Amino acid sequence: MKAVTWQGKRKVEVDTVPDPRIEEPTDAVIRVTTTNICGSDLHLYEVLGAFMSPGDILGHEPMGIVEEVGSEVTNLKAGDRVVIPFQVSCGGCFMCGHGLFSQCETTQVREYGSGAALFGYSKLYGSLPGGQAEYLRVPHAQSTHIKVPDGPDDSRFVYLSDVLPTAWQAVEYADIPEGGTVTVLGLGPIGDMAARIAHHHGARVIGVDLVPERLARAQARGIETIDLNGTDGELGDRIRDLTDGRGTDSVIDAVGMEAHGSPVAKFAQTAAGLLPSAVAEPLMQKAGVDRLAALYSAIDVVRRGGTISLSGVYGGATDPMPMLTLFDKQITLRMGQANVNRWVPEILPLLTDDDPLGVDTFATHRLPLSEAPHAYDIFQRKVDGAVKIQLEP
Ligand SMILES: NC(=O)c1ccc[n+]([C@@H]2O[C@H](COP(=O)([O-])OP(=O)(O)OC[C@H]3O[C@@H](n4cnc5c(N)ncnc54)[C@H](O)[C@@H]3O)[C@@H](O)[C@H]2O)c1
Ligand SMILES: [Zn+2]
Ligand SMILES: [Zn+2]
Repeated sequence: MKAVTWQGKRKVEVDTVPDPRIEEPTDAVIRVTTTNICGSDLHLYEVLGAFMSPGDILGHEPMGIVEEVGSEVTNLKAGDRVVIPFQVSCGGCFMCGHGLFSQCETTQVREYGSGAALFGYSKLYGSLPGGQAEYLRVPHAQSTHIKVPDGPDDSRFVYLSDVLPTAWQAVEYADIPEGGTVTVLGLGPIGDMAARIAHHHGARVIGVDLVPERLARAQARGIETIDLNGTDGELGDRIRDLTDGRGTDSVIDAVGMEAHGSPVAKFAQTAAGLLPSAVAEPLMQKAGVDRLAALYSAIDVVRRGGTISLSGVYGGATDPMPMLTLFDKQITLRMGQANVNRWVPEILPLLTDDDPLGVDTFATHRLPLSEAPHAYDIFQRKVDGAVKIQLEP
């Protein structure tokens, strides 16, 4: 089959690789019909290469049609239409029982001290082949799927794999009071969708980014926006001016470890990226640092007693945190990989023909899988209006 493989920093390829097959009685194999590129894939493309091996299949936002199921998968059959969550969960352990599917105790990657295994996401998360491919093997398929109805185009449902539950959890964890305010830092797919969900729930939303068409997309849906480029380093003051001098009740950080505006950490990340994996991997695990500009903005912008919800991915082991401010402002901080299946029942009722969250038109590009190298390039450089890209195998 054809699959998108990681080859090195900023280098992906479309290769021919062996078809996946059922290896365990708990597996299923699906034929992929749509598979997205995610901001999380950009971290592998740029700064997390130490944990990848050339030839690893990327991707964790697929949907398609079940081809074959193992003997222990009783709730799926060939021909079913499914979306595959980005994490593998067993559905039966203590964590799954608490709705913490991204912490599944059956699939946790203990060798690296990581949570649940993720598709196509480096050895830190189990080295599982990803979903940017014609076919995907789905372990623990009994729990690791979302069945969706036939009819609407893939766009209606494909974001259940990641964008929708991640944005939903970001809003839940932000704990915005009734009629309250939230700043959303970063208007990539995750921040854009989180802004839409918070707005749909009735919050006043202020979205921040520095890419003109991303700001425009949010504005078009009634979100107030601030262009970071025009703030002269005074984003906190701008937002306090808009909120009776206090800052917003909540802040969602949908930027993560590669934030714009952190030159020292950018240098450290780049330097680690130039080292051979054998040296870079232990270094990143013990002494890695993130680019913390967005997180520091969040701490500044949130009002006293407010809540910060991090959905942007961080991976530094020694990040300096302003404990004085966090403690003094009495800030609540929540974060983590989204627990996909936890939120699906709440989201599904919004995926209707009137499309309140705008999923049908959310993708800016739909390209053949063979154009993945171009797609990664324009998504990373934020050119050609690329905000969310679907690949079609
Ligand atoms: N928690 C989860 O389960 C989960 C799931 C999916 C994605 N993510 C993470 O969410 C983050 C966003 O993903 P995405 O797909 O939207 O990616 P993206 O890279 O397209 O979006 C990031 C956006 O942040 C903007 N930005 C950069 N620096 C900024 C700053 N200092 N202030 C404000 N905005 C800034 C960029 O211009 C960009 O639009 C990534 O870190 C990704 O890994 C987390
Ligand atoms: Zn994703
Ligand atoms: Zn589990």
